[in-house]
Amino acid sequence: MADLMKEYIDEAESVLLHTYNRYQVVFDHGDGVHLYDMNGKKYLDFVSGIGVFALGYNNKEYNDALKAQIDKIVHTSNYYYNVPAIEAAKKIKEVSGMDRVFFTNSGAEAVEGAIKTARKYAYLKDGGTDHEIIAMEHSFHGRTMGALSVTGTPKYREAFQPMIGNIKFANLNDIDSVKAQITDKTCAIIMETVQGEGGIHPSDKAFLQEVRKICDEKDILLILDEIQCGMGRTGTMFAWQDYGVKPDVMTSAKALGCGVPVGAFMMTEKVAQNSLVAGDHGTTYGGNPLAGAAICKVFELFEKLDVLNNVKEVSNYLYERLEEVKASCPDIVDHRGKGFMQGLEFNKPVADIICKALDNGLVLINAGTNIIRIMPPLIITKDNVDEMIEILKKSLS
Ligand SMILES: Cc1ncc(COP(=O)(O)O)c(C=O)c1O
Repeated sequence: MADLMKEYIDEAESVLLHTYNRYQVVFDHGDGVHLYDMNGKKYLDFVSGIGVFALGYNNKEYNDALKAQIDKIVHTSNYYYNVPAIEAAKKIKEVSGMDRVFFTNSGAEAVEGAIKTARKYAYLKDGGTDHEIIAMEHSFHGRTMGALSVTGTPKYREAFQPMIGNIKFANLNDIDSVKAQITDKTCAIIMETVQGEGGIHPSDKAFLQEVRKICDEKDILLILDEIQCGMGRTGTMFAWQDYGVKPDVMTSAKALGCGVPVGAFMMTEKVAQNSLVAGDHGTTYGGNPLAGAAICKVFELFEKLDVLNNVKEVSNYLYERLEEVKASCPDIVDHRGKGFMQGLEFNKPVADIICKALDNGLVLINAGTNIIRIMPPLIITKDNVDEMIEILKKSLS
């Protein structure tokens, strides 16, 4: 069987485009907070498919809801109404306070939609087509051309120039750097409330509030990307809800469908009334009945399992235990994050540590080369944290 896993890995490398340096494992199934490879080896999962499987694997109610929807209807078209998407949008409106929802298939597409919304909003104001967007250094918004254009890591953009144009970069938590980029042409500021891929950097409250104030004064749209940090990961349903601000446009994906590929961009009524209209934007799959059913069940289970309270309680414990690890390991230079989105920064690349952890039955992932990103399912217990810490310590020694 071990050889069968190896055979599949070799086959993958001959048929899949090599855009990922994958870990040498083929996961076969999952249950709760555990994954199992093709040989039946059990792993404690502290990645959750990079923030997707918030509710853990193989949740029976979630699976049953999807199966029931599959037996009913999987897809229609956005030229017709479907009940699961309507119910999902109602729920998103209720928990986010945003007024209008557009469903996409992925996070990057949600970012594309948010960018188009901002450009159209500004276009309707002055008829210009030279508006600018300010994004943050070290941000990550996805791999499609618009999302890549506002992604603040030059190496991701370099070979694919030209980008969409009129994008400027400022530094997270440096309000002067934002002010320095604002002109009469600025139509939006886009940022992750907590940067994920760029190294787990939460926005400061004062910074985000000041950005909001500038946007209000100048009628600039504040777009918050909650694709990774949203859906309960930091202890509130959306991370910005802990900041005393509200975006004009926001994006969501990943845990929104807990495994069914779905994303969304949402906006206030004011933005909706002054931006995209029929014919401006569309998608074949976005918000189909299967995706809608997944979203509805995800929100229902969040309430039933009291997920937000679990995040608040257990993430404090996780923070303390990771502080212990930091104190005992001189290679760790920083520990930061919010809720179940925490990072351990090392003074060296972390790939070897992650491989060792995998050998020892713990799934971890990096953010950049030197940071271990801790993104467990939101249902983990303190015992799971203890187990993780033991394996991490073993993998560090
Ligand atoms: C903050 C953020 N925005 C956008 C994306 C892109 O999402 P997707 O991979 O679903 O296109 C990601 C993915 O990691 C992300 O973390």
